[in-house]
Amino acid sequence: MSAAQRTLVTGGAGFIGSHVVDLLLAEAHDVLVVDDLSAGSEANVSDRAAFTRLDIRDAVALAALAAEFAPTGVCHLAAQASVTASVRDPGHDLAVNVLGTLNVLEIARTSGAPVVFASTGGALYGDDAPLPTTESYAPEPLSPYGAAKLAGEAYVATWSRLHGLANVILRLGNVYGPRQDAHGEAGVVAIFSELLRGAKQPTVYGDGTQTRDYIYVADVAGAFVAALAAGKSGVFNVGTGVETDVLTLLAHLQDAADTAIEPALAPLRPGELRRSALDSSALTRALGWRPEFDVGRGLATTYRYYADA
Ligand SMILES: NC(=O)c1ccc[n+]([C@@H]2O[C@H](COP(=O)([O-])OP(=O)(O)OC[C@H]3O[C@@H](n4cnc5c(N)ncnc54)[C@H](O)[C@@H]3O)[C@@H](O)[C@H]2O)c1
Repeated sequence: MSAAQRTLVTGGAGFIGSHVVDLLLAEAHDVLVVDDLSAGSEANVSDRAAFTRLDIRDAVALAALAAEFAPTGVCHLAAQASVTASVRDPGHDLAVNVLGTLNVLEIARTSGAPVVFASTGGALYGDDAPLPTTESYAPEPLSPYGAAKLAGEAYVATWSRLHGLANVILRLGNVYGPRQDAHGEAGVVAIFSELLRGAKQPTVYGDGTQTRDYIYVADVAGAFVAALAAGKSGVFNVGTGVETDVLTLLAHLQDAADTAIEPALAPLRPGELRRSALDSSALTRALGWRPEFDVGRGLATTYRYYADA
């Protein structure tokens, strides 16, 4: 990896994007973060990265910035990332997640830079998919967020074919780790960690047997950097392949917190997926990527971050 790599990271002030930035810096990239701070925080951005506060819906400002920075690669993570917000306001979700993505693709094309796009596994595959799900399963999104990510994917892949760029789509599992917002509606690991460290009772929806593929954020950052370095286009799941149910997840965090506090139970929220796990063997075959953190180690590390905050 040479210092000549100039990488633009959209959403780099957010949870996952800030870890991508840290890894790119460790690999000697010059990094420019673009984020409107609607959900992220400038405090997440390393002071070794350049930062510009900008809305990716502003095509003109984005193009001017890209002309100046001349990126050799783009990691595109800026998004309206909430499923429930997308149901409340699908127009806003579409404007950021589809039109914003088109703007990012256009500045990447102008610079001749490949794009690595943050898409989703859980919100695309739906409830009927065989587990662990492979990329060949036809998406059946259940929310405007999933529909917009699918549309974004179509543009990313089309720009790859039309303009000969090695664009990559990464379909992420349930990402957890340090810097995840513990005060939103999603991010169960961050929410449980915050509650347990304050000796407060967590709430489990349904019977707690619903499963997700929880993937540690440093492993996701590794997938972004590997995808950018590989110079090949493709669509890849990024997960562990392992289903973890909510009660097991809570038990890991209780162990880390050394507490046996019992959860409150509440009815399952409407539209919640029952089970999810992603087969990431295509990414292992193509790029040699595999997760380094199993869920036990990842959850213990994450709990320590919240406990020490
Ligand atoms: N967290 C997960 O489990 C998960 C799973 C699948 C996919 N993803 C995707 O990964 C990406 C990062 O998610 P995250 O969990 O870090 O969320 P996040 O909200 O922490 O990060 C998104 C960032 O994008 C920024 N942003 C939002 N709208 C913008 C706009 N119009 N212009 C510029 N910046 C804007 C926000 O301020 C924020 O910093 C998103 O694309 C999300 O859809 C996340």
